[in-house]
Amino acid sequence: MRKKTIRDVDVNGKRVLVRVDFNVPLEDGQVADDMRIRAALPTIQYLLDHHAKVILMSHLGRPKPENRGQFRMDPVARRLAELLGRPVKKLDAVVGPEVEAAVAAMQPGDVILLENTRFEPGEKKNDPELARQLAALADVYVNDAFGSAHRAHASTAGVKQVRPDLPAVAGFLMERELEFLGKVREHPERPYVVILGGAKISDKIGVLERLAQRADAVLIGGGMANTFFEALGYETGTSLVEEEAVGTARGLLQRYDGKLHLPVDAVVADRFAPDADAQVVDVQAVPADKMILDIGPQTIEHFGDILRPAKTVFWNGPMGVFEFERFAKGTFAIAELLARLDGATTVVGGGDSAAAVRKAGLSDKMTHVSTGGGASLEFMEGKELPGVAVLDDADEA
Ligand code: 3PG
Repeated sequence: MRKKTIRDVDVNGKRVLVRVDFNVPLEDGQVADDMRIRAALPTIQYLLDHHAKVILMSHLGRPKPENRGQFRMDPVARRLAELLGRPVKKLDAVVGPEVEAAVAAMQPGDVILLENTRFEPGEKKNDPELARQLAALADVYVNDAFGSAHRAHASTAGVKQVRPDLPAVAGFLMERELEFLGKVREHPERPYVVILGGAKISDKIGVLERLAQRADAVLIGGGMANTFFEALGYETGTSLVEEEAVGTARGLLQRYDGKLHLPVDAVVADRFAPDADAQVVDVQAVPADKMILDIGPQTIEHFGDILRPAKTVFWNGPMGVFEFERFAKGTFAIAELLARLDGATTVVGGGDSAAAVRKAGLSDKMTHVSTGGGASLEFMEGKELPGVAVLDDADEA
């Protein structure tokens, strides 16, 4: 069911409470990657252009009471103000008298950013009392935090649950994410190729199963390939292997025989370090004292042959340790292969693969790069996301 968006509600002069996902990496107290802040700008700008009072809220990291200082929203507010070109009033609380007074004093066109929602113990518990206090700040609730929509927290789901009468709509980022990921999930044009990487199978078992059912081919790389090698009885040396997932990998290989494509060669090293000596070997000849850190050149060629005719590609998870230049070739080669596909829909699930595409400077060449990590995987698995489920359904024309 399509959801209402900010286009469908009157926001003029209204207090609009917007859940954004400003969970961004910080370095030395500064925002190190502002992709998620930029991604929310169209919604914020639209609301400002339509004379709304904009109250933003987000979590940042996974703070504990003893390390809260590192997780304050101040650096985010500074970056947002730079990008918007207007002041952003950052509050030091999520709810309470200070917040209520600041909201009461707002004029249309003002922007407030609340403190990290996870400073409130009720946030992750979806405490109705916290949700009620948040809802009391709003005339309209907007969820633009696709990246957090798989969490049933007070700020993502609770606000609407405690105030069913409150208009609750999607922002433009949420709309875009649901549109592109939804298209790939429901109506992929074929051939449909899925590329899955990253360290673990266990994190992605549900989505792997579902994607393998739907796709014409699934290309496996990254650390998770090692567990498949183990299931095939290959020597994996000192590579990361999930022993408890070997049985799962064996089952997947049997069920999707011919559809799952594993690397044929690998880049190995004697240690996990950026300056470790790299060597290319056949995956059936990994030395006992070496670890696999990337896919090899023949694999890139093989994956390229499968990708070239594709009309839809979904990619989640790097092919190797792309943070180390020596072991980044496989991941960047996949990004380049996707960038060169003509007329295909290419969707990159968030997290590390999105970071890799940005590092390769190829984000603009993809149809869509998701801002959601866990959220995009749960969505692709077919799960209903709590932060989406609560939003008002659009009237069917
Ligand atoms: C993410 O980065 O995936 C989202 O912001 C959710 O963060 P979380 O995994 O800490 O809930």
